[in-house]
Amino acid sequence: MNFPGAFPTLATERLVLREVADRDVEAVFEMESDPVAMRYWSRPPMRDIAEALASVERAKTFFPERVALRWSICLPTDDRMLGHLSLFDFSEQSGRADIGYGLARRHWGQGFMHEALIAVIDYAFGSMGLRRLEADIDPRNHASLRALERLGFAREGLLRERWQVGDEISDSALMGLLAREWRARPLPTRQTPRPGDSDRKGTIGRRARR
Ligand SMILES: CC(C)(COP(=O)(O)OP(=O)(O)OC[C@H]1O[C@@H](n2cnc3c(N)ncnc32)[C@H](O)[C@@H]1OP(=O)(O)O)[C@@H](O)C(=O)NCCC(=O)NCCS
Repeated sequence: MNFPGAFPTLATERLVLREVADRDVEAVFEMESDPVAMRYWSRPPMRDIAEALASVERAKTFFPERVALRWSICLPTDDRMLGHLSLFDFSEQSGRADIGYGLARRHWGQGFMHEALIAVIDYAFGSMGLRRLEADIDPRNHASLRALERLGFAREGLLRERWQVGDEISDSALMGLLAREWRARPLPTRQTPRPGDSDRKGTIGRRARR
């Protein structure tokens, strides 16, 4: 696994994925204080902007401490964060990481997460050399399951009563995607050029939506 030396900013057709920054606090609060957006999250909605401030402060340490990569998903026009996407729980030995993500509610249903996920998965299996990605999804979270299944993640198992958030106990659907499955997808474009890709430069990062 190759953990990057500099934070990897990624660009897609409509989005820029950049490192989390202080200016994201309000947008983090917008998303993470919304009980609908946080319905299937692993902790309750935020109540106070101080929680967003603390969360951003913590997230800023992830890259320098090499524990996670957390991208703020932004529109290039105003740099405002729409949501975020992270790779975390790396296993160096097994070439594996977890993926987690969310968008503020007003940005749902426009294919933004689909586009952001493609860029991050390309990066994870390309430059980082990971072999497997996994995600822990509440089986009732149909939008999230669909977003992953559409990209080829398989539903590998059900972990019963894995979480307790407040009084609510919930199961986890374990979703997994392998690098070799990703490379075998019918659409050839990759975010990260690999040897032999030079003739396809013009299409990098522009994999068509399915
Ligand atoms: C999950 C989430 C990121 C999806 O983002 P999004 O940008 O709206 O998703 P997309 O527009 O890329 O759509 C992905 C797929 O999910 C489907 N989908 C979207 N909302 C849905 C819903 N409420 N129910 C079922 N499917 C849904 C879309 O139709 C699309 O599938 P399709 O291509 O077959 O039509 C977003 O709903 C979200 O932020 N939810 C709250 C946070 C969260 O639950 N995160 C996951 C926990 S790890």
